Amino acid sequence: WKGFNCSIPHKVEVIKYLDGLGESASLIGAVNCAVNRGGKLIGENTDGKGFLKSFLEITPATGKTIVLLGAGGAARAIAVELALAGATKFYVVNRSRARGEELTALLNEKTSASATFVEWNKTYSIPQDAEVVINSTSMGMVNTEGKQDIDFDSIRSGMLAADVIVNPPQTYFLDEAGKRGATTLQGLGMVVNQAVIGIKFWTGVDVDAKDLNDELLRVLGLA
Ligand SMILES: NC(=O)c1ccc[n+]([C@@H]2O[C@H](COP(=O)([O-])OP(=O)(O)OC[C@H]3O[C@@H](n4cnc5c(N)ncnc54)[C@H](OP(=O)(O)O)[C@@H]3O)[C@@H](O)[C@H]2O)c1
Repeated sequence: WKGFNCSIPHKVEVIKYLDGLGESASLIGAVNCAVNRGGKLIGENTDGKGFLKSFLEITPATGKTIVLLGAGGAARAIAVELALAGATKFYVVNRSRARGEELTALLNEKTSASATFVEWNKTYSIPQDAEVVINSTSMGMVNTEGKQDIDFDSIRSGMLAADVIVNPPQTYFLDEAGKRGATTLQGLGMVVNQAVIGIKFWTGVDVDAKDLNDELLRVLGLA
């Protein structure tokens, strides 16, 4: 067999059963894809790679200043991949100080990007130098409170606004950012691309992201 995917709550626990980790999985500290390479099980994190693939289809990461809303597992994976791809500055905006500071320290100490932690305890305005804003919180998922406490008018035309939420694909966050002239990127691409990357790791085959996207929409009842 070629490997396997795993998800919450096993992404950290699985590491002790593996023989090694890919570079970004090691920095992220979480694995969602194990790959059998010559009899050794190597842990990879395809969440961040999937996001990065969607992101790079719109704009390069090099030199970007990024606002990251959230500091959980998805945020960690995305931030590490963007930093490894050349993003230079992050504002890590998170409700709980501990998780936010931990991700900020990870970026400052283990990547060449610089990061500042912002405690999210009041309405947040996107700084003037930010070019990208990413909702990597779970806010906006079906049955969750979907309105982030940000000043949506601080999102400017020409910015990129990305979301990690898969269902619904078009979130309140993306709607509001789009109304301010931002280019928007749905979380659907991230989940489709992590599958494309996992299949490539296991089999060497490039599958068509559009086929997977269409099937996912059908499964979600959105086709
Ligand atoms: N598209 C994809 O392929 C993909 C892949 C992975 C995950 N996801 C999605 O990403 C989302 C996050 O997943 P995760 O694994 O990162 O979860 P997680 O580790 O539990 O992190 C959740 C994050 O959301 C924040 N948050 C939750 N509710 C909030 C609220 N009411 N106000 C402010 N902040 C809030 C948390 O802040 P605190 O630290 O303060 O609690 C934390 O930063 C989920 O919706 C998941 O489905 C999508």
